[in-house]
Amino acid sequence: MNRLSAAITSLGESSTMAITAKAREMREAGADVIGFGAGEPDFATPEHVVAAAAAACSDPAQHHYTAVGGSARLREAIAAKVLADSHIEYSPAQILVTNGAKHAVANTFAALCDPGTEVIVPAPYWVTYPEIIRYCGAEPVFVSAGADSAFKVGVDDLERARTARTKALLFVSPSNPTGAVYGRDEARAIAQWAADAGIWIVTDEIYGRLTYGAHEFVSLPAQDPALLDRSVVIDGVAKAYAMTGWRVGWMCGPPDLIRAASRLQGHQTSNVANVCQAAAVAALEGPQDVVEEMRLVFDARRRRMHALLSSMPGVDCTEPEGAFYCFPSVDGLFGRTIAGRRLDSSAAVAEVLLDAAGIAVVPGEGFGAPGYLRISYALADDQLEAGMQRMGDLLS
Ligand SMILES: Cc1ncc(COP(=O)(O)O)c(C=O)c1O
Repeated sequence: MNRLSAAITSLGESSTMAITAKAREMREAGADVIGFGAGEPDFATPEHVVAAAAAACSDPAQHHYTAVGGSARLREAIAAKVLADSHIEYSPAQILVTNGAKHAVANTFAALCDPGTEVIVPAPYWVTYPEIIRYCGAEPVFVSAGADSAFKVGVDDLERARTARTKALLFVSPSNPTGAVYGRDEARAIAQWAADAGIWIVTDEIYGRLTYGAHEFVSLPAQDPALLDRSVVIDGVAKAYAMTGWRVGWMCGPPDLIRAASRLQGHQTSNVANVCQAAAVAALEGPQDVVEEMRLVFDARRRRMHALLSSMPGVDCTEPEGAFYCFPSVDGLFGRTIAGRRLDSSAAVAEVLLDAAGIAVVPGEGFGAPGYLRISYALADDQLEAGMQRMGDLLS
């Protein structure tokens, strides 16, 4: 008999966390490392949010277990947010507050997956999706879209991947890691395809507030009312409000699915910390100009990083449309030897960048996209400039 379960043994490590951990270790050992690996805003949480949390800390009513699904106040605030941004109306009973959007992803696939079922996952993908889908007993079926199709899949690609075992489509726009944003027509076509196919849509809208230029967030299930009975909308406060450490996310969907996920959460983690829920209420109901201020800073960094990467030999960068990542192709570097190392993969490029230039980026392999790097622009402007300078110097 195995010491640990087969399901847990086959769980891969998150490649984004691995590179962040290695960069931290090097820094602790005295190295000057600039981190482009992290998927989180570098800003502090807005002050009015912190003040609301501090007030909740001092309120004895917040010191005890509360409803598994989240406070009534927060669920109302979430319903208003989803209505405003995604144009979908949910009642509080259709909303479950989770420990971050990541927990909502795990709850959702636990509620949907059976052994033998398949979930279509567009690639490049966020590292957590396939791991959780497999952990829940189903099989991720990847549909790849490269830079030549702006990292977006179309209905024909999805139809080729569909089988009698297809249970759901995982959809994320804006995308981590590519920054791609689906337009309304593209989203509508996929929504109609999913409605006709009778499959579930799991849509991760965590970067919905972070789109740039002419690109606008469009919620997939809102494109076809027939989908709402088979859709799960996942979101959270982490990215838009600089609240990654507070761990508040949510999932919205049909009542039976939300009840099922709540039962699971009731056994696993119960309610999200009350203080953090109070902070999330303040974020959602308070002034929204803080979100816009951060978005504008990200937008300026996005344009700067894209321009700098585009000027480097062997690097080809599609302009990102949302989120806070550039996702350049580096296969133009393959065959070169830099700092004594022959470059033959994006993993090798990332290793040389860390060892010889002291910059941490995430290789595309972990996102199902060998040949690419994910480079986050959620870091201070001077760090961005210094890191890109080092990368340019090393490659030129
Ligand atoms: C696409 C996507 N979904 C969900 C999450 C997780 O968000 P949270 O911090 O709320 O768990 C991330 C974090 O990197 C992400 O990139």
